This record gives sequence, structure tokens and C-alpha cells, in this order.
Amino acid sequence: MKTIDDLIADGQVAGRRVFVRADLNVPLDGSTITDDGRIRAVVPTIRRLAEAGAKVIVASHLGRPKGAPDPAFSLAPVAARLGELLGTEVAFAADTVGDSARGTVAGLADGQVALLENLRFNAGETAKDDAERGAFADLLAELADSYVGDGFGAVHRKHASVYDLPARLPHAAGELIATEVGVLKKLTEDVARPYAVVLGGSKVSDKLGVIDHLLEKADRILVGGGMLFTFLKAQGHDVGKSLLQEDQLPAVTEYLERAKARGVEFVLPVDVVGATQFPDLKTKAPADPVTAPVDAIPADLIGLDIGPESRKLFAAKLADAATVFWNGPMGVFEHPDFADGTRAIAQALVDGAGFSVVGGGDSAAAVRILGFDEDAFGHISTGGGASLEYLEGKTLPGLAALEN
Ligand code: 3PG
Repeated sequence: MKTIDDLIADGQVAGRRVFVRADLNVPLDGSTITDDGRIRAVVPTIRRLAEAGAKVIVASHLGRPKGAPDPAFSLAPVAARLGELLGTEVAFAADTVGDSARGTVAGLADGQVALLENLRFNAGETAKDDAERGAFADLLAELADSYVGDGFGAVHRKHASVYDLPARLPHAAGELIATEVGVLKKLTEDVARPYAVVLGGSKVSDKLGVIDHLLEKADRILVGGGMLFTFLKAQGHDVGKSLLQEDQLPAVTEYLERAKARGVEFVLPVDVVGATQFPDLKTKAPADPVTAPVDAIPADLIGLDIGPESRKLFAAKLADAATVFWNGPMGVFEHPDFADGTRAIAQALVDGAGFSVVGGGDSAAAVRILGFDEDAFGHISTGGGASLEYLEGKTLPGLAALEN
């Protein structure tokens, strides 16, 4: 994979228009950015290119608009924040490949930075059809002379700006992608043991591939989040009104059996915290939380976090781990009554002496929102789905495109 240094040495940066595909898909509350981690993560690459004399054109998706402009998914607030972080004005184009984008790029002097509007406002970005995606990539290619891929969080997407565009321009990997790939290699090649993996998040169906793969790699797998209830049900427990994916019960049962046969420790919570109503995440009004052991979950309870005994159990299972990968919150951490499980995992990673990687938009955001110092972790990844698919051993289109 070529680096920015290679691109500079090849004469593709100074005085040239360099397209930077970033992942600026940040959580928004209206137009307020609630976690700017992904914006901060791409600043070194942009700064480096600008200092080397490039006209830097940054582009990203935000959310999942339906292939047409939708003000709710505008990147305008991100342009403002990016400008603050860079300490320089960021010109904002109100479209992706139209008059505004072309005019904005034409107006850039060497060392200046522009951000295009949400790439997914154009249906060609995410099209399944190669020709439709290619046609959009052709238009993007007209805007630039060279390409830097630095949107690690999106490299698992076969999208025009991620996969098709680098084939059309001299290209290299940015600093964020280089760092992320370096860290993930540590989790797949010569892993320091014991290797513990903590998985959370709501749906077990999103994690099947990674569990399947990690059963061959990890020493311990700890499960929390909404997905834990499908595991508890597979073990014969009643889960009340908690999230349950009945159709995944056979897969989950098979994993539990395979873990036993392979000597992989599958650690499930022994108690949960829940409520009879889903909590109000806007007002954060007290939700009357109830703690229950997993073999006595009341019929009307919605499980929303792991319980106090489980927090101790999980912390003990992480204390001597030499490597820890964590993806997915343990509960509805956005509400203070159900944040303790997620907080306990973050604290266990901070306290442990092993190398810890926090993977995933939600868990990374949780760590920051709960007030932990990012530097206390080995690495906080900007990629949720991307880091999971990397660990599954899949070929990621956005990385493959940069290799070629
Ligand atoms: C993410 O948030 O995981 C990335 O930005 C990719 O977003 P997507 O799942 O909408 O493609």
C-alpha cells in the first residue's frame, strides 16, 4: 500500500488537487455533533497534505440518506468543526459533483481545504450496479488529480468513493488507515495471550461472522448488550421483554457448544439491570432500574444493561488479558441508569496491563461520552463494521483498492 510520502515523492501532492475520502459519519443531535472523534482522526492526514502544498478536497458520507439531498444528513456542521480543528477555514461545497463542488475546488489555493456535501446524496455512491457506481466515480475523478483513502470506518463498503475512485487516480493510504491496519494486524497475527474479546451491541445477527471467526482465535469471549438475551435464552433462561432474536437461537447454541469443545471460555452475565419501559434518552428521566439474576428475570422486564455481579465477573476476566478487543456497548449507556456496565468494561481496559483496542463507532463514542481519557487505551478505532470485518478475515474493498 502506498503512503502519503510515496504520493509526495511521485509529485502528486504539491500544487495538485488531492481527494481525501474520510469517514466523517459522526453522531448528530440536530446539527450538534455529539462525538467528533472521527473528525479529529483525519486531521493529521489533511494537515500533512495541506502543508505539502495540496489543494485538499475532503469527502465523506453521513448517515444513510436515500441517494438524494436531505438536509438532516448535511455535512455542513462537520465543515465548521473541521475548520475549528484545523485552525483554518474549510470551504463547503453544497453538492458532491455539481456546480458548487466544481466551483469550490476551482477556488482552492495550494494548502487550502474544502469539504464536499454528503456523498450519499448521490445514488451512484452506494449503487450495487458497477456501471452506475463507476459513472459517479468518473465525475468525482474529474475534481481531483490524486486520491488518499483515509475513511477507515467505510473501507468495508464497496462504494464509488471508496472502491471505484482510487482505481481512476494515483492513490495512497492516509495516516489513519495506516494506523488502524497496523493495530488490527496485532489482533490477527501473533496475538499476545490471553486474548479476550468483549462483544456488545443490540443484535447478535450483526456479530455472527466475527464470533464464528474468533472462536478459532480468542481465549475468552465476553458477551453483553442487547445480544446477550439471545444467548441467555439459548441457555434456557426466560428473558422477559428483553430483545430476543429467536431466529438466531440455533446459531448461538452452536457457538456455545463449539466454544466448549475448543476450550474457549464464553462468559455470559450472571445478572442484568432493566426496566419495565424503555428509558427516555432525551430527557434521561429516572427509569426505576431493577436488578435481576439471569435465572429470575421478571416477565415484564426489559433488560438494558449487565448487572453489578456481571461487572465484577467481566472485570476479573479482563484483568490478566494480554490483548483485549472490545466492540459494542454493554447496555443503553446513553441513559445514566444503564451506563454502568459499559463504564465497567472501559474501566477494566484502562486498569488492565494488556493491549486494549476499542473498536466501533458506538463503543468508541461511549468511552468518550463517559469521560474516559482516550490515551488510557491502546487504540480507539474509528471503524465499527470495518474493524469487525477485518477481524473476520474478510477482504475489505476499500483496502483492496488501495493495494492495487
Ligand atoms: C460506520 O458508521 O460504521 C461507517 O461510517 C459506515 O457507515 P454505514 O454502515 O452507513 O455504511
